[in-house]
Amino acid sequence: MDVSNTPATVTWTETPEGPSVRLIDQTCLPGELVLKDCYALEEVCEAIKSLRVRGAPAIGCSAALGVALAVYTSGADCTRELISVVEDAAKQLAATRPTAVNLFWALERMRQLAQQSASLPPEAFRQVLLEEAQRIVDDDIDRCRRIGQYGAELILEGANILTHCNAGALATAGYGTALGIIRAAHQQGKDIHVWADETRPLLQGARLTAWELAQEGIPCTVICDSVAASLMQMGKVDCVVVGADRIAANGDVANKIGTYAVAIAAARHEIPFYVVAPLSTLDFSLATGQEIPIEQRSPEEVCYLADRVTEPICPEGADVYNPAFDVTPAELIAAIITEVGIARQPLAASLAGLSGEDSSAGFGSSS
Ligand code: MRU
Repeated sequence: MDVSNTPATVTWTETPEGPSVRLIDQTCLPGELVLKDCYALEEVCEAIKSLRVRGAPAIGCSAALGVALAVYTSGADCTRELISVVEDAAKQLAATRPTAVNLFWALERMRQLAQQSASLPPEAFRQVLLEEAQRIVDDDIDRCRRIGQYGAELILEGANILTHCNAGALATAGYGTALGIIRAAHQQGKDIHVWADETRPLLQGARLTAWELAQEGIPCTVICDSVAASLMQMGKVDCVVVGADRIAANGDVANKIGTYAVAIAAARHEIPFYVVAPLSTLDFSLATGQEIPIEQRSPEEVCYLADRVTEPICPEGADVYNPAFDVTPAELIAAIITEVGIARQPLAASLAGLSGEDSSAGFGSSS
């Protein structure tokens, strides 16, 4: 996290029990701020699958640290064996969640470095991989800050901004993407207010976005997802800002389920709809968003309001459809804000132009 007194979203931590990938367990928020230490690759995989750590950039950072953890906890004493450990760890991590391309981007960076480091002795190999994972984490915070600077100019004094899901410090290594530009506008002294969609079924907006904004004293009102369109109709929304899990070459954007509905409503009311993401979220190997794999999650997330502590809200055995993401077509998007600038319509050409400015960003690292 990048909020004073709040621990980092995910870090490498040396503990008396050994090295750990330490993360804020987001399933416990907003009730409790719990730090979870993952001492084994399997625990990192479980944390990603169960959304203890979530949000596209944070998933990528956790996966990179997970690969480093696998080589540090392996007893292998030759580098060739350690390369197999990396390959195996990458396979397990890649199977956790299919949609956010940052996961595959980060794993590809770790795999490539492992191959290039084949001539190193085992201890140096371990060290080089850990440094790369830490670089991915540090770069992510830096990219978010740069995004914030570009994006804040789009947020006008007095703006009412609607956001969906959580694209904040919790969804990245720190600072956030969509919430990063809100944070930057607030730090510039702009008097702004945020409408946070609750984001059914897992309530990332109500639980996480509202919590993060409260930490910084940014005015925020939580709404049921079904309220957004009527607020727009009443003239109470000036712009929409959301994050992204994967952006295809034509500018189509996969993000949390419900984002498409918000984009349609914004278009109907001529409200600018902005997507905010680092270049590691671009997947130029996919021509359009129709090719983006959409994660399907358990029916229980829909049937129970709070982790099975309540009675089910559906009759037993009800058929449930629970996609975690949807795709917003490029034509509904006014701009995509990245760390190297703002892509505008036509998005395909604009994104291609911007991406040429940062060769370190990985493109086409599809699952
Ligand atoms: O299922 P989640 O909580 O991982 O979904 C997160 C989102 O959809 C975010 O909007 C996206 O990852 C961007 S995070 C900067």
